[in-house]
Amino acid sequence: MKALVLAGGIGSRMRPITHTSAKQLIPVANKPVLFYGLEAIRDAGIREVGIIVGSTAPEIERAVGDGSQFGLKVTYLPQDAPRGLGHAVLIARDFLGDDDFVMYLGDNFVLGGINDAVERFRRERPHAQLMLTKVKDPHAFGIATMGPDGRVVDVEEKPRYPKSDLALVGVYVFSPVVHEAIAELKPSWRNELEITDAIQWLIDHDRRIESTIITGFWKDTGSLADMLEMNRFILESLDSEVSGEVSADTEITGRVVIGPGAVITGSRIIGPVVVGAGSIIRNSQLGPFTSIDCDCTVIDSEIEQSIVLRGAFIDGIGRIEWSMIGREARLTPGPRAPKTYRFVLGDHSEVRVGV
Ligand code: TTP
Repeated sequence: MKALVLAGGIGSRMRPITHTSAKQLIPVANKPVLFYGLEAIRDAGIREVGIIVGSTAPEIERAVGDGSQFGLKVTYLPQDAPRGLGHAVLIARDFLGDDDFVMYLGDNFVLGGINDAVERFRRERPHAQLMLTKVKDPHAFGIATMGPDGRVVDVEEKPRYPKSDLALVGVYVFSPVVHEAIAELKPSWRNELEITDAIQWLIDHDRRIESTIITGFWKDTGSLADMLEMNRFILESLDSEVSGEVSADTEITGRVVIGPGAVITGSRIIGPVVVGAGSIIRNSQLGPFTSIDCDCTVIDSEIEQSIVLRGAFIDGIGRIEWSMIGREARLTPGPRAPKTYRFVLGDHSEVRVGV
């Protein structure tokens, strides 16, 4: 069995971060989202992985390399534009050959990995196997309907009138029969080759589609709120480990990870919190549920429920919450803050200033 990981796309909902960086490499608890998926694939006993890459290909290739750091053998499959999940399977045809494969959306996280789904597929050998989970807002997802025998009888992308509340999680297991369906696909109204159309084609042609329903945590990290939720979730299961320097006048409560070479002085850290290697935290309060990546500086500030990317510099800002701060970003007060603000913000930025 092989795996096809989708790490292209444009990540429009994560702008402006995704103007300069791949959505799948945004760190959650200081580890890129994509890495959680690659580890789950490895843990399911799969070795050969094709990664679909788009405009952020160089960055993804730099981070993942040949895959050996994960125990994987990675092949990169360039996609000229995000033409849909079905299109990704189409361009991976040669790589996939006649093998079964797991298709894994590179911005998804599934608690407990994919072992159960893969083992069940190997045992029962359906033509395709979906992972489903109950959602509160079925309008926003690909939705599957099951027949009385538990087989999937219908799938629909973001239905206006949903027939069930079971959403497709971004992990699928396919037999090579799926390529027959992919070959028949026509672009949808949004001009994409939809994987749900391919699954519906299989259903209409009497192929056997099974599903596993997951009840544990799952996240499709499409938006900032999703990222922060996954960050909270991962941080909850953190084991404390302090490698950096923590001064005597710093107070630590709860579970924290302080990376090597980090220096924390005169601060309060309320876990769960992770501080990356080489970061400097001075006279500040961090946490709870906050990830500070490597080589950041935080001085005279408070940060809660947030993700701060590598090399950010935050000095004298007061209180920050529910935020994501990009790589090498600089946040400093103006001379008479907070009466006036000066911003250099990317397209589609969202800033909320308190009153
Ligand atoms: P989406 O989240 O559906 O798309 P996106 O990443 O472009 O985000 P947005 O909707 O905010 O613009 O994609 C799911 C995953 O699949 C994500 O990791 C990107 C990847 N993908 C591809 O690799 N190729 C594609 O053609 C599409 C549509 C997505």
